[in-house]
Amino acid sequence: MATPTSPRIAVIIAAAGSGERLGGDIPKPWRLLNGQSLVERAWRSFCPASLHVERIVLAVDAGYLPAALEFASTSLVPLHAVAGGATRTASVRNALREIPDSIEIIAVHDAARPFWPVEIWDNLINTALRIGGSVPAVAVSDTLKRVQGSSLETVDRAGLWAVQTPQVFRADLLRRAHEAGQREGIDATDDAELVRRIGSATEVVPSTAANFKITTAADWALAEQLAGLGEAPMPMRIGFGYDAHRLGGPGPLMLGGVRFADSGGLIGHSDGDALLHALCDALLGAAALRDIGHHFPPDDPRLKGCDSRELVRETVRLLRDAGFAPAQADATVLAERPRLAPHITAMCTTIAADLGIDPGCVSVKATTTEGMGFVGRGEGIAAQVVATILPIRQGAPQ
Ligand code: CTP
Ligand code: MG
Repeated sequence: MATPTSPRIAVIIAAAGSGERLGGDIPKPWRLLNGQSLVERAWRSFCPASLHVERIVLAVDAGYLPAALEFASTSLVPLHAVAGGATRTASVRNALREIPDSIEIIAVHDAARPFWPVEIWDNLINTALRIGGSVPAVAVSDTLKRVQGSSLETVDRAGLWAVQTPQVFRADLLRRAHEAGQREGIDATDDAELVRRIGSATEVVPSTAANFKITTAADWALAEQLAGLGEAPMPMRIGFGYDAHRLGGPGPLMLGGVRFADSGGLIGHSDGDALLHALCDALLGAAALRDIGHHFPPDDPRLKGCDSRELVRETVRLLRDAGFAPAQADATVLAERPRLAPHITAMCTTIAADLGIDPGCVSVKATTTEGMGFVGRGEGIAAQVVATILPIRQGAPQ
């Protein structure tokens, strides 16, 4: 992001259009996208301190000036509003009058582009400082045709870019470009064209297709989908589980659902699989569903000597009833013996199968405690598990 020597930057938001092609009763900039108007989204997107913007000027339909001025009290960056003009160019020109001469760099942005990629900001600013102007753009990748009736002629797309906003210019150049444009009666669809007409250079900064301009009803539908994704991130949850069992059972040892044929077993109510019990606790903990003892009480006769894999599968069902699915698990087994390394893959595969996830999302690690403590003395085996779970998306395959 910009350094303390950052230039003095102002932003103009062009938001005075009616959105004829989109239609509807409310002018496009004032339509709510996931609860927030396009114009509000636009100015708020320039407020983060890291962007170093010191003034924002909104050009809005005169009837919406009071609404725009209401924003000023909640904005961290000083916010001004002016009445727009009959064309986009005229709206930007009106906003330019609200920008003091001390401003060195001006960015002009369309309220109709709610998804501009903020990560290109420094590049836009630095390019404008270096050569005068910069525009976000995407190289055209479709085959282009000039259509005349049923004659479709391919147009060479080499060097063709779809240009977006925010467009960034040295303030003096943008002012001169607009003055010249007004003198000559030019109405351009963007500011880079006016700047080009005064013979000044502008460079392209690679952007993303997501920075499209909402123009039609289909664009609006796509924007609603994208806004929904952006504002409702899947709330991943994390749980931790720990279990330890005493060695000395008849065996064989069960760990991670895998049978260790020539090792003595763990003493436990079920098969004593400390790793799977820690896993169940991690999953239940992530969903805030109490613990393994709550769901599978030790005095329940049905559980005597049972296969702990059953407990894991039942835990997954409890999770699903609560609207969650396991996503990933990472385990550490603390054991002086037996050597677990040869069995790690089998444990991961078994656990993944019971959780219904990819084996690549399960990790089992093993460590000794170098002779220390109950593990070191060979009295027992302990396991710790961290698991993540995700809400089940409605309509998603499960
Ligand atoms: N704009 C403006 N003043 C105008 C016309 C347009 O500030 N007199 C703004 C729009 O609000 C929009 C941006 O310029 O944020 C790009 O214009 P466009 O997408 O064409 O919006 P509209 O002109 O509102 O839409 P339409 O052309 O379909 O009427
Ligand atoms: Mg228009």
